[in-house]
Amino acid sequence: MSKVFDLWNEVGGTFGPSGREDAVRETIAAIAGEYIDDITTDALGNLICRKKGSGKKLLFAAHMDSIGVVATWIDDKGFIRFSQVGGLFKGDLINITVRFANGTRGVISYEEKTPFKDLTLDNLFIDIGAKDKADAEKCVQIGDFAVFDVPRFEQNGVLCGPYLDNRIGCVTLLLAMEQLAEAETENDLYFVFTAQEEVGLRGAGAAAFSVEPDVAIAVDVTDTGDLPERKTPMAVDMGKGPAVKVMDRSVICTPAVCAALEQAGQECGITTQREILPFGGTDTAALQKTRAGVQVGAVSIPTRYIHSPSEMCAASDVEGAAKLLAKFAAGQN
Ligand code: CO
Ligand code: ZN
Repeated sequence: MSKVFDLWNEVGGTFGPSGREDAVRETIAAIAGEYIDDITTDALGNLICRKKGSGKKLLFAAHMDSIGVVATWIDDKGFIRFSQVGGLFKGDLINITVRFANGTRGVISYEEKTPFKDLTLDNLFIDIGAKDKADAEKCVQIGDFAVFDVPRFEQNGVLCGPYLDNRIGCVTLLLAMEQLAEAETENDLYFVFTAQEEVGLRGAGAAAFSVEPDVAIAVDVTDTGDLPERKTPMAVDMGKGPAVKVMDRSVICTPAVCAALEQAGQECGITTQREILPFGGTDTAALQKTRAGVQVGAVSIPTRYIHSPSEMCAASDVEGAAKLLAKFAAGQN
């Protein structure tokens, strides 16, 4: 197993849907602690790691929350109805196992009488195998969050499983931080693991407000255009290098920052791709709109099947992104 996989397995396997990031924050803090000078958590739950310097203030952000589900109602037979935390697609959910924070597991199933094409999340339920409502309530309360409970694997340099989005971004930052631990740089570096991205980029803005960076870079996953019969063409392929975001629906990145990221890639021999995502958004948008505005860029890991329990990316793209980010962080004077 690669180092990337091992780190992802550890950070990705930790419970942390939006607003319930405590466990994943602790896991990341334990790893990050040895690379930096100072570590704090703010009121929103963002983890802010600082490697002190007297130069330019650079902020790197990766959201640590994942999508999930939340129990909304338990019927007399003990079946649990749920609502979504972040963006879910019904096709990804049927017969998938989920896990609550206390370890309770259940299967998502659906009302058979509804024609399959008409199913919405309202027709789905979680079955924890309870005898009745009272039995179910011993394990799950209204308001409890759950996440996909699906195994991860690595095969031929490709990683697959739940929550590459965005624990793989967190792993990328951790790898960059490790490379920077001994680096000679004046720059004042902040590595922020943000909360509540999946429910509307809620953590990143507050973190950037307190840090007041000169430049901010978000690290997240992006879609790929390399699958058969895709609806929209996209010039990003899995395994062809980290993607430098030009724009998505929420942000147009600062051209000088995009150029500097590409340059950092060239300097360490890493091929990059240019990302234009016709939908979706990332923390980049929230970082850009903080205070009087911030220059932003984003580095994305090309990822297939985003928000499904079986997301897929290439380990080499993660390694390349970490190297590029470390180069950028050390070099921006
Ligand atoms: Co996402
Ligand atoms: Zn994400």
